[in-house]
Amino acid sequence: MSNRIDVSDLDVYYGDFLAVQGVNMTIEARQATALIGPSGCGKSTFLRTLNRMHEVIPGARVQGKALMDGQDLYGADVDPVTVRRLVGMVFQRPNPFPTMSIADNVLAGVRLNNRRMSKGDQQELVERSLRGANLWNEVKDRLARPGSSLSGGQQQRLCIARAIAVKPQVLLMDEPCSALDPISTLAIEDLIAELKSEYTIVIVTHNMQQAARVSDRTAFFNIAGTGKPGRLIEMDDTSTMFSSPREQATEDYISGRFG
Ligand SMILES: Nc1ncnc2c1ncn2[C@@H]1O[C@H](COP(=O)(O)OP(=O)(O)OP(=O)(O)O)[C@@H](O)[C@H]1O
Ligand SMILES: [Mg+2]
Repeated sequence: MSNRIDVSDLDVYYGDFLAVQGVNMTIEARQATALIGPSGCGKSTFLRTLNRMHEVIPGARVQGKALMDGQDLYGADVDPVTVRRLVGMVFQRPNPFPTMSIADNVLAGVRLNNRRMSKGDQQELVERSLRGANLWNEVKDRLARPGSSLSGGQQQRLCIARAIAVKPQVLLMDEPCSALDPISTLAIEDLIAELKSEYTIVIVTHNMQQAARVSDRTAFFNIAGTGKPGRLIEMDDTSTMFSSPREQATEDYISGRFG
């Protein structure tokens, strides 16, 4: 398994509204790919197509292809629940279950997948996932406390622990630091650098410095105007995108000369 994703001619609709059009993109395995672009250009929409979360919205649908390691994520015989386990997601606002304990939060996704585990295996998975999310040392003495007893940055790392506990291959992150202070943001960025040795990571960010710091490749989406579909304008190695993009629109966006 290489966990590479190949998207071709992807159109994404909300009912009759074409929100994202004609995306062709390769997301390399075990790298961090940043999605950037102005508000409303369809970054979140596109991201959610990669784990079949888009289609849970009534009327929402997808045309085109998204392959993971050559396997069609939208194949007729593919269970979307399986796709969501293989392709985990972390959201903009940390969303732990507030009254559930820290340990149970980590196990929540695993339980959803109906995996039966012994107490010992559960404890081990909790520790491994919390270590993986760089949170273990901060919470190991209070695993029974509620998820809401953690700081925002800790809650986001708890959500990352919950996401990796189900052993995904890909992690989608939609502005995972936008609700966090600079220190917590750096902690998450460090974590992304570590996680990408094991997972393919796709991160949406409005922070250009963050895209430059954490990602190997960057994709710039843009929108021609209200009601028009978002499109992928260009994608390249992050260093190239930030030093010598091919498109003027990319240059304008990354240098803050936008809109
Ligand atoms: N549930 C929905 N139903 C209908 N239209 C939607 C829905 N969610 C998003 N849209 C529309 O799809 C387009 C793309 O939205 P999306 O949220 O993907 O943009 P984005 O690039 O993530 O923006 P932001 O940077 O503000 O998060 C917008 O026109 C938006 O209004
Ligand atoms: Mg968004």
